[in-house]
Amino acid sequence: MISVKINGDKLSVDPANDMPLLWYLRDHLNLTGTKYGCGVAACGACTVHVDGQARRSCITPLSSLDGSEVTTIEGLAAASSEAGELHPIQAAWIEAQAPQCGYCQSGQIMQAAALLGESPDPTDEEISASMAGNLCRCMAYIRIRAAIKLAAKAQQEAAR
Ligand code: FES
Ligand code: FES
Repeated sequence: MISVKINGDKLSVDPANDMPLLWYLRDHLNLTGTKYGCGVAACGACTVHVDGQARRSCITPLSSLDGSEVTTIEGLAAASSEAGELHPIQAAWIEAQAPQCGYCQSGQIMQAAALLGESPDPTDEEISASMAGNLCRCMAYIRIRAAIKLAAKAQQEAAR
C-alpha cells in the first residue's frame, strides 16, 4: 500500500500492476477533468501537479507517488483560493475565452499554473518553453498565451 494525497484527501492505495496515475484518477476516483490524449507524454492533456510540479499523469506510475501530493484540475482552485473561488488562472481563461473544444484545456491550465508558480511574470520565451509540450488541436495557442498573461497580471495585482 502507498499513501498519497489527492486534492487534499489522504488515500491509502494498492497500486496494482503499476497503474498510471491517470487511470487511477479517472477510473477509480472519477476525476475525469484530467484527459487522456496520447498516453506517451507527448501531448500534455493529462497534466497534473505532483508536489507542485507539472507532471504527465499518463506515464506516472501510481506506485511512484508514496508520500506525494497530487493536485488535479478539480482541486486547483481549492489549493490556492478561498472556498468557492476560481483559481486566478481559471478566471483568466474565462476572460480570454481560451478554449475551443476544451479537450486540452485542463492540461494547459495545470501546466500554466505550474509555470506561474515558478515564474510569476513570465517572458514570452518562458511561456513558449513551458507550454511547448501542451498541444492544442484547435490551435487556441494565441488565446492560451493571452490567458497566461492575464493571470500573471491578476496575480501581481492581488499581491500588491
Ligand atoms: S495523455 Fe499524457 S501527455 Fe498525452
Ligand atoms: S481547445 Fe480543442 S484541443 Fe485545445
